[in-house]
Amino acid sequence: MSFENKVAWITGASSGIGEALAYALHSEGAKLILSSRRENVLQKVKDNCRGDTSDIYILPIDLAKAKSLSAKAQEALDAFGHIDYLFNNGGISQRSKVVNTDMDVTRKVMEINFFGSVALTKAILPSMMDRQTGHIIVTSSVMGKFGTRLRSSYAASKHALHGYFDSLRQEVHKENIHVSLVCPGYVKTDVTKNALEGDGSKHNQMGKGQQHGMTPTKFAQKLLPEIIAKKEEIYIGGKEIWGIYLKRIVPSFFNKILRKMEVT
Ligand SMILES: NC(=O)c1ccc[n+]([C@@H]2O[C@H](COP(=O)([O-])OP(=O)(O)OC[C@H]3O[C@@H](n4cnc5c(N)ncnc54)[C@H](OP(=O)(O)O)[C@@H]3O)[C@@H](O)[C@H]2O)c1
Repeated sequence: MSFENKVAWITGASSGIGEALAYALHSEGAKLILSSRRENVLQKVKDNCRGDTSDIYILPIDLAKAKSLSAKAQEALDAFGHIDYLFNNGGISQRSKVVNTDMDVTRKVMEINFFGSVALTKAILPSMMDRQTGHIIVTSSVMGKFGTRLRSSYAASKHALHGYFDSLRQEVHKENIHVSLVCPGYVKTDVTKNALEGDGSKHNQMGKGQQHGMTPTKFAQKLLPEIIAKKEEIYIGGKEIWGIYLKRIVPSFFNKILRKMEVT
């Protein structure tokens, strides 16, 4: 591994996948910038990192407040002088049928999952281009590769990330900037509890898939070697990953199977 002395900015670092990435990257020698809305929880994550934590900078952000993000990105750049890895990981899910979902909920999910990541990336990109190096990692989902019931806005936000960041990868290849889209299957985090219902309230239930999902720690262990290998698209999960291949190879057959499957 070669994260030693590299600077990694992680969004969604207060829980789940982002928190586990913080522990894994710091133990590999990376300097960290930790971001999400809850500053007090980020502080706990920092305290839980092993060894000297003076190389961990806490930067509260709200991905829904796109206009504030370029100033936040400048603060992130100033923290250690540059950024080697930007982990666009913070996000929110949704559990509601299209017919019951307020437009405000769809916009909020798009704002956080798509526009938030885009705004941070655009703000950091010129500095990566100047340095002719950098790696942008985006946490998508298997829902970035196909859609299923109760997740229309979430799946849309994750699909949008693929279009945007696939295009960016083509543009910055010559500048030695890498782009990785990560598609987790079920990981045992609070993502479903934190998901929005159609009226914008919190779902507050752990999905069955999440309950049996891989731990965030294991997820982070599997992800980091793929990042070092600069893999462009990364699938990590259980059987649900097969859906990505079935959708690609036999889409109609897969859609029929999906209709019959229980979704929570
Ligand atoms: N767990 C899974 O099975 C799974 C599967 C596929 C994809 N994913 C993706 O993985 C990523 C991480 O999710 P997770 O599973 O670790 O869920 P999680 O435990 O709910 O973590 C979500 C993170 O995003 C942050 N966040 C939410 N809204 C935000 C906002 N407006 N501004 C800034 N930060 C915000 C949260 O921090 P604050 O509340 O402190 O802001 C938290 O740190 C998400 O993009 C999710 O879509 C997860």
